[in-house]
Amino acid sequence: MADLKSILHSGYQHPVSRSWQAQGRSLTKDMFMYPLFITDDADAEIELTSMPNQRRWGVNKLEGFLGPLVKKGLKSVILFGVPERKPKDVIGTLADDPEGPVISAIKTLRKAFPSLYIACDVCLCEYTSHGHCGILFEDGTIDNMPSIERLAQVAVNYAKAGAHCVAPSDMMDGRIKAIKAGLLKEGLAGRTTLMSYSAKFASGLYGPFRDAVDSTPSFGDRRCYQLPVAARGLARRTIMRDVEEGADIIMVKPGLPYLDIVSEARELAPNHPIAIYQVSGEFAMIHAGAKAGVYELRRMAEETCVSAVRAGATLLLSYFTPEFLDWLDEPYGA
Ligand code: PBG
Ligand code: ZN
Repeated sequence: MADLKSILHSGYQHPVSRSWQAQGRSLTKDMFMYPLFITDDADAEIELTSMPNQRRWGVNKLEGFLGPLVKKGLKSVILFGVPERKPKDVIGTLADDPEGPVISAIKTLRKAFPSLYIACDVCLCEYTSHGHCGILFEDGTIDNMPSIERLAQVAVNYAKAGAHCVAPSDMMDGRIKAIKAGLLKEGLAGRTTLMSYSAKFASGLYGPFRDAVDSTPSFGDRRCYQLPVAARGLARRTIMRDVEEGADIIMVKPGLPYLDIVSEARELAPNHPIAIYQVSGEFAMIHAGAKAGVYELRRMAEETCVSAVRAGATLLLSYFTPEFLDWLDEPYGA
């Protein structure tokens, strides 16, 4: 006979009691932040072959596309600029081009959706001729000081245009402090969230994104600034450093292969929101598996997002956001 304390099924026999086992950590619509690719052709709506249902959007198309999603409960987006028309240069001038895609999109969205929270990815790789995330010395290595100054300038200009949140994904040293100082100097620090891609790993899962924004480096790779896959200690250090430098939100990226790092982040920054980025390769992988009949799409999208929340994430950047706005209205399984 089983010992009295061996009986555990009793706690999750019913769908309602099952939901309580999340201990408050279940998916809600406001946890989802939707990544959007904005191109400088204002009327564009270009399908991305490597990322099902995702598009490069022109600013004129945003209101029509996002209107129904906002109605369903979309609370936040994160913008990535994809300049296709003007030439790129070595310092990424196009990043904060006043007529460029990101700044135009911020203004358009603020006007069209006053309650939508607008974050902007801050990086140089989409805008530099060499495709790296910082400014380079002549020998092609990263020149850190001018890189963080330039990133701070871009972040300040996004905030000035009306962004609620700036999110540096470059992994240069000291950029959180530089951006925070820049915001402070301009009187923007109090109204601009600084979300740091703190533990960003040199992952094989960014391929579809690099196609989407055309940011594959023209030489070399990003291993000198993105973290080695095995680097647990280094991830702890970048997280602690970014907390020290004034980050408001700590992000771990990618998601699924790095859930241990998410729970490290939860422990190292217990008083900060913890974000996780379910990146393009994870999204494509979940779709590919579903297409191959390995599992049902919704089930695996939910399982991966729930596991992120279980690990300690409180904010999810996911290309599945539009689907979740429907799915969370019609729960199943649990
Ligand atoms: C650029 C950036 C990348 C992603 C977000 N910002 C790619 C990279 O570092 O190569 C990845 C997002 C995704 O794959 O969905 N700094
Ligand atoms: Zn970059």
